[in-house]
Amino acid sequence: MKGIILSGGTATRLFPLTATTSKQLLPVYDRQMIFYPLNTLIKAGIKDILIIVAPEHSGQYLNLLGSIFEKYDIRIDFKVQKLPRGLAEAFVLGEDFIDNENVVMILGDNIFEDDFSQDIKNFKSGAKIFAKKVADWQRFGIVKFNKNNKAVKIVEKPIKWISDYAIPGLYVFDKNVSAIAKKVKPSERGEKEITSLHNYYLKKGKLDVNIVKGAWLDAGTFDTLLEAGNIVKEKEIYKKFDPLIDKAIIEFNEELKVIAKKRLI
Ligand code: DAU
Repeated sequence: MKGIILSGGTATRLFPLTATTSKQLLPVYDRQMIFYPLNTLIKAGIKDILIIVAPEHSGQYLNLLGSIFEKYDIRIDFKVQKLPRGLAEAFVLGEDFIDNENVVMILGDNIFEDDFSQDIKNFKSGAKIFAKKVADWQRFGIVKFNKNNKAVKIVEKPIKWISDYAIPGLYVFDKNVSAIAKKVKPSERGEKEITSLHNYYLKKGKLDVNIVKGAWLDAGTFDTLLEAGNIVKEKEIYKKFDPLIDKAIIEFNEELKVIAKKRLI
């Protein structure tokens, strides 16, 4: 199983914070936001990870994550997405990286409390997505269930209410996803929508939807960024990281301190 973190985009809702760095490198409590989705993947045993970034921030990502896991048998690759042409484009850009294996993608600004190891490890084929009840259904991809809790309809940011179940930014797809993503036509807003992929698998009867039980945060606005930091602290999510990530962060910090001291001498 391969892993992708989609960490590009322009994040205009967070201007001027994102005029100087990438949204997913902003702090959420005591660490950069990207470590949260990285943790979700690493906890699930994923060792091959592609991080897709915007061109203006590629150097910052390389500095932070280019060699931080090299001792730990985790491979991080990078790919630049020149323009934010939609979430489904990740599977086109990542086709060589995916290399005909199953793949899990997580959005760089999505923070989860739950551990998805079993969902990811047990995945065989088709597609698996998740759902979480929200109040602001207009902001998300939304899934409607029938009486038997079977997914029957999926709409990206519906104008009219169809359901309160949002689809968080964690998706597991089989090896066919790149070929399918290539055929997705851009929506009215000019993006290859992730929900087009969901609908493809739904129509084939190959889409599983699991409910997210713990906290899910999409840290894309000032309020949700602040809320994410507060919830991470309250629920002590930062204490439940895979020990390997904590070790790597501590070592990285120690290295920085040595370099800073040398500069002062
Ligand atoms: O957060 C979950 C939601 O994410 C889903 O419910 C929606 O179905 C999905 O379309 C997406 O909606 P958003 O409006 O939140 O997407 P946004 O444009 O904010 O992009 C999500 C993340 O992906 C963000 O961190 C930026 C990054 N991104 C986005 C696009 C469109 C890229 O790296 N490249 C892109 O082309």
